[in-house]
Amino acid sequence: MAEIAQLIISENTHELPVITGSEGEKAIDISKLRDQSGYVTLDIGYKNTGATKSAITFLDGEKGILKYRGYSIEELAEKSTFIEVAYLLIYGSLPTADQLNDFQYQLSRHTLVHEDMKKFFDGFPQRSHPMGQLSSLVCAMSAFYPESLKSNQTTEEVNLSIVKMLAKMSTLVSWIYKKSLGHPYIYPQNKFDYVTNYLHMTFGQRTEQVEIDPVIVSAMNKLLILHADHEQNCSTSTVRIVGSSDSNIYASISAGISALWGPLHGGANQAVIEMLEKIQEDGGDTDKWIAKAKDKNDPFRLMGFGHRVYKNFDPRAKIIKKACDEILEKLGVNDEVLEIAKKLEEVALKDPYFVERKLYPNVDFYSGIIYRALGFPTDMFTVLFALGRLPGWIAQWKEMKENKEPIGRPRQIYVGETDRSYVELNQR
Ligand code: SDX
Repeated sequence: MAEIAQLIISENTHELPVITGSEGEKAIDISKLRDQSGYVTLDIGYKNTGATKSAITFLDGEKGILKYRGYSIEELAEKSTFIEVAYLLIYGSLPTADQLNDFQYQLSRHTLVHEDMKKFFDGFPQRSHPMGQLSSLVCAMSAFYPESLKSNQTTEEVNLSIVKMLAKMSTLVSWIYKKSLGHPYIYPQNKFDYVTNYLHMTFGQRTEQVEIDPVIVSAMNKLLILHADHEQNCSTSTVRIVGSSDSNIYASISAGISALWGPLHGGANQAVIEMLEKIQEDGGDTDKWIAKAKDKNDPFRLMGFGHRVYKNFDPRAKIIKKACDEILEKLGVNDEVLEIAKKLEEVALKDPYFVERKLYPNVDFYSGIIYRALGFPTDMFTVLFALGRLPGWIAQWKEMKENKEPIGRPRQIYVGETDRSYVELNQR
């Protein structure tokens, strides 16, 4: 028999259906609550509110579980590639060899951006933040692909815009980096796979042939896989709600990039390194900074720690921490901030303040150390998060449209002034 929730308001009892997800999660469906009772619910920050039903990613914050389309993040990070995971997230199953080859072929033939896009790059100050540039550039792409503005696109039209978005993102991201150095742009090469092509455009030079180290290719695949999706996080929810107004894919992804920029979200990977460097400059006294993080009168937070959903170790943090040691050793990099990070983690995981609040290292705590070892500047870290998260944003945007979800429009409780009459200026 279907499970029912009963809500008693005054002398009325309202019956609300309970739905159960495929992993056993329970939700009370309140979609008819206001019609039945005149009441809405209030849940600032949506800590207890599901916005949709999705078949893409499952995570269990208590158990530290993360799965993409039923495959564990541990297996995918170990055995898969970023483009194979992108296909899995977007189309729902692991591709056959032919499907994967065709997907890679399609992507490699859409990596060029319109030459007029360079005029946007030229307009940015050289040191302007890469996330602001990326959000602007992605939205500007809608100007070059007006067909993407059409409503009720065919499956072929949607798939073409998905391929263009994925393929051109790697070019935009690498050219933002080149611009920050004042170096000439490096064009994509169709012979390379997606990640190798991205690294070629990023670290390649016009003056000499630069071989891309397979260790770096492998590390980048792993990092991008770990960032590829994370169900209804802040930036993904932004992509879905912007897409729900029938906005095109470029505008929706651009909005997601803007949401990810915040230091409480994807911007945390940059904030972690800046925090570790500050602690290093301050003499490496981790106890002093742990005390600051606990002090309610001190705005300092331990960046890279805590999570809205994970109240256990973020499984991605475990994988990245292990990869950190391996990659730095393979690259022969000895980074003192890694030692500071490990010390912070060790102290924090024993401290009651963090233990009681279930604050554990999240995906951002160690990722920046690897990006730094790979040669990326700190302000590029969140752009790399966006490159990784792009397939997830696309998959969620596509699912929302396929499910014909209504425009997102939350309610509110008004707490402002009630009736007031207009007062003439000379009377105020
Ligand atoms: C990402 O949602 C996702 O899935 C996001 C993400 C993804 O893949 O998309 O996983 C990526 O955004 C990871 C999170 C990156 N952000 C940071 O590392 C920034 C530092 N962390 C925090 O700001 C915080 O933990 C959040 C924003 C991540 C979560 O905040 P919540 O769930 O709103 O929790 P909260 O702010 O209410 O904190 C609960 C308590 C508070 O103390 P009390 O009021 O109970 O006394 O924990 C404290 C907070 O002050 N707290 C911290 C802390 N994080 C929370 N105290 C010190 N340092 C911290 N980092």
